[in-house]
Amino acid sequence: MSLFIVFEGLDGSGKSTQQQLLNDKLQIDKISSISFREPGSTVIGEKIVKILQSDQKLSPLSELLLFYVSRSAIIEEKIKPALENYDVVICDRYFYSSIAYQGYGREMNIDFINQINDEVVKNIIPDLIFYMDINWEEKIKRKGINVNDRFEKEDRVFHDKVRSGYISMAKKDSDKWKIIDAEEDVENISSFIYETVKYNLNT
Ligand code: TYD
Repeated sequence: MSLFIVFEGLDGSGKSTQQQLLNDKLQIDKISSISFREPGSTVIGEKIVKILQSDQKLSPLSELLLFYVSRSAIIEEKIKPALENYDVVICDRYFYSSIAYQGYGREMNIDFINQINDEVVKNIIPDLIFYMDINWEEKIKRKGINVNDRFEKEDRVFHDKVRSGYISMAKKDSDKWKIIDAEEDVENISSFIYETVKYNLNT
């Protein structure tokens, strides 16, 4: 069974850069790995990405269910088979994004999200979650605000709600969750992530 790793964080936190660096290091060490991203990574998932990126009006419930359709497909078609065939499986976002964005951010009922989650995710739970923590000021400095993006155009209040959601999930399960200060030096973060992954591969 392989090591299942998830990256979480608000946009602009450097998630993608860190995943790329991790992949490069794993490759050098000849540790087989594969990466996916949510939403997306499957045919149905990419169709859902198009809906989410469009100006289609969606209720919070529709939005949540779309993420879960995409999630169900990626779990069945990609993650489960990958867990049989690779040393390390990496996913850019997972159900924690739904709890953080739809639950804490859009204030949907978290027990309801957890109920859907139990049906869709079942026992496909990551071993490690790297949460890249970024504050609003730093995010704006890095990215500005993309008014065309459904989530990025949300304001500081939304950002802070999502962020506090992530932090409270991380604090509840501090063995699995690693909170990373996104303002730290990129190479230092990358070394920390790699060392943590290597340690968990060997235990
Ligand atoms: P994407 O452009 O892939 O953003 P990123 O590069 O930051 O991952 O868009 C995904 C957006 O969807 C992102 O703003 C977070 C949001 N999202 C949710 O609200 N709920 C979810 O369950 C998932 C997976 C993503």
